[in-house]
Amino acid sequence: MKHAGKVIVVTGGASGIGRGIVERFVGEGASAVIVDIDEATAREVAAPLGDRALVVRADVTQEADLEAACAAARSTFGRLDVMVNNVGIIQIKSLLDSTPEEWRKILDVNVVSMFLGCKVAARHMIELGNGGVILNAASGAGRRGNKLVSAYCATKAAAINMTQSFALELAPHRIRVNCYQPGHIETPLWDDLAVAWQKATGQGKDEMIELFRSTVPWGRFGRPDDVAAVCSFLATDEAEYVTGQAIAMNGAEMLF
Ligand SMILES: NC(=O)c1ccc[n+]([C@@H]2O[C@H](COP(=O)([O-])OP(=O)(O)OC[C@H]3O[C@@H](n4cnc5c(N)ncnc54)[C@H](O)[C@@H]3O)[C@@H](O)[C@H]2O)c1
Repeated sequence: MKHAGKVIVVTGGASGIGRGIVERFVGEGASAVIVDIDEATAREVAAPLGDRALVVRADVTQEADLEAACAAARSTFGRLDVMVNNVGIIQIKSLLDSTPEEWRKILDVNVVSMFLGCKVAARHMIELGNGGVILNAASGAGRRGNKLVSAYCATKAAAINMTQSFALELAPHRIRVNCYQPGHIETPLWDDLAVAWQKATGQGKDEMIELFRSTVPWGRFGRPDDVAAVCSFLATDEAEYVTGQAIAMNGAEMLF
């Protein structure tokens, strides 16, 4: 119960990695605010967690929605210890086929939302005066560009870089800011990816999954809890001296 009594806010908490983070932290004693645009699924995730989970329907591109989520953490559970800016979308498009609207959308959902989540949570944490932990979703894609996913790679590089800047600004307030950098993790994101992958390459989902799995020396896809376990450690006092970092969990994929 290493997070007993703590309060965590997780954006994109209804699915995949976000859901894994919610379930692990609640299992370790925390209360969680599940923030998602998909309220119905968020409620399904919250139901078995009883009064230690609260759902706030929000669009993370809207500062007012994030403010409502952090305010709900305080009014319902009395604190805000950990903010996880986890929402991210992916786009599979070649440079020549991509439009400015598509680039603006992914920048808004993956980057502007992260800036807003960090800003809003930091404001509350500073007011509460107990320090805090902010975790941002980066990706192996943020370390290296790749064909057909240039916009996604750019947003994840931004996540790593923003994490460094905000860690420097928030250190005096004892707020640590780190990002997690997953490799290939089995989540519904890969269903969206498969549809776009088929359009772009003609390959079906099974072929695509095998292609990506074969790049992982550890020999399997990651699971949401592979990410959640590291997030859990980063939110403990044992990680007190870890801030401004991008921590990877990727089965040795993408080492270079
Ligand atoms: N799955 C992977 O292999 C992988 C690898 C590296 C990084 N990541 C990153 O991890 C994070 C989580 O990925 P996942 O695979 O769990 O994704 P997912 O698609 O399973 O879940 C994303 C969640 O975000 C919600 N969401 C989308 N847009 C939203 C918005 N505007 N406002 C509020 N909620 C919104 C969705 O409803 C969904 O519940 C993302 O940032 C992703 O880029 C994932």
